[in-house]
Amino acid sequence: MSWALIPLTEEQRAVQLAAREFAAAEIAPYSATWDREARFDRSVVGKLAALGFLGMLVPEAWDGLGLDSCTYLVALEEIAAVDASVAVLMSVHNSLPTQMILRYGSEEQKERFLRPMARGAALGAFALSEPEAGSDASTLRTQAVRDGDAWVLNGTKAWVTNGDSADVILAMARTDTPSDRKGPRGIGAFIVTPDLPGLTIGKKEDKMGLRASPTVQLHFDNLRLPAANLLGEPGRGFIYAMQSLDHGRLGIAAQAIGIARAALECATAYAAERRQFGHPIKEFQAIQFKLADMATRVTASRALLYAAAAAKDRGEPITQFSSMSKLMASETAMWTTTQAIQILGGYGYVTDYPAERLFRDAKVTEIYEGTSEIQRIVIARELYAGS
Ligand code: CAA
Repeated sequence: MSWALIPLTEEQRAVQLAAREFAAAEIAPYSATWDREARFDRSVVGKLAALGFLGMLVPEAWDGLGLDSCTYLVALEEIAAVDASVAVLMSVHNSLPTQMILRYGSEEQKERFLRPMARGAALGAFALSEPEAGSDASTLRTQAVRDGDAWVLNGTKAWVTNGDSADVILAMARTDTPSDRKGPRGIGAFIVTPDLPGLTIGKKEDKMGLRASPTVQLHFDNLRLPAANLLGEPGRGFIYAMQSLDHGRLGIAAQAIGIARAALECATAYAAERRQFGHPIKEFQAIQFKLADMATRVTASRALLYAAAAAKDRGEPITQFSSMSKLMASETAMWTTTQAIQILGGYGYVTDYPAERLFRDAKVTEIYEGTSEIQRIVIARELYAGS
């Protein structure tokens, strides 16, 4: 799949190659088994860490690689093209909890949490959603109450990627009081560690796709946190989370593009080999038109993503572009994987080829880190911003 539209720097090319070789050697041989058995192999974390892939966006002063967003997304696409479960681990860790601590953490919090996260010695998770608060995230109910030099948290977080394996969990909880609710401005961001009494891992989701990525509920039952584990200001946690999701959504776009590209590669190779009516099926226009549309959508999604990431690297606001990128890339992933199955026919519907796994993995990119409907709301709102 050509990258000709995106002129990569020498460094980006080197990172791309390293990610591609790593994915081929350390992930590809196991992906189908991990998916079938819904198995998260923790050794992957150490291997990603060894490459520096869990601290890609963290400055070298905090033990990260200090790379820009574009370079990070190049690597993420390579991983996603081989295994979307490993890609989401990498995306959530790099884009959400790590970025939140980097942007809003105190020096002490950076020393304690960011440094090990950047080295990959500590895995991060992001806990915003709740059973009753998904798209309408600011209605979350988990309550934090200040008690002396501690905060006491009660509630349940849902859909937490890496939640049962994380060493550092960024959890959003209400800091306002039931008698004085402040909506999105009454939420704090807390750094939760699994050693704290009062934290239990709840239901592990049995998912359609991304089966090698653990997704769990977390229960906080009088979970007592040192006051020093509050990130930034008590009423700003929702805004920190939204700002981090601007970046997180670029990661999900890269993941979706990786999935879509893998589906295109699978279908292209199959169409060259498969013979019907005396010809390889790639000679039929019905197949050519599908492949052409798939390639066009993948290339357009990638071009939008890199334009958005370049804006981010220039320090410009990206809320709208990030939602556009995620929307376009995730719909491309779903559409492209559907076309791939159609081209493979019966072989697309069984596990002999990766097409069915790619199709199952693609679906969630239209749902998590904001559904396609939420992305459209964000995009439309921005059209009227300032008017
Ligand atoms: N950047 C900075 N600030 C932002 C912001 C952004 N992108 N988006 C909102 N804000 C600020 C607003 O400016 C506002 O601040 P003020 O009070 O100062 O004006 C405040 O946050 C509240 O904003 P809204 O009034 O827009 O809030 P809302 O309740 O209407 O919600 C929403 C907006 C866009 C619908 C938001 O709720 C949303 O994004 N929902 C989807 C949630 C989501 O993506 N969840 C994914 C969870 S993570 C996950 O998927 C699991 C995983 O591990 C992969």
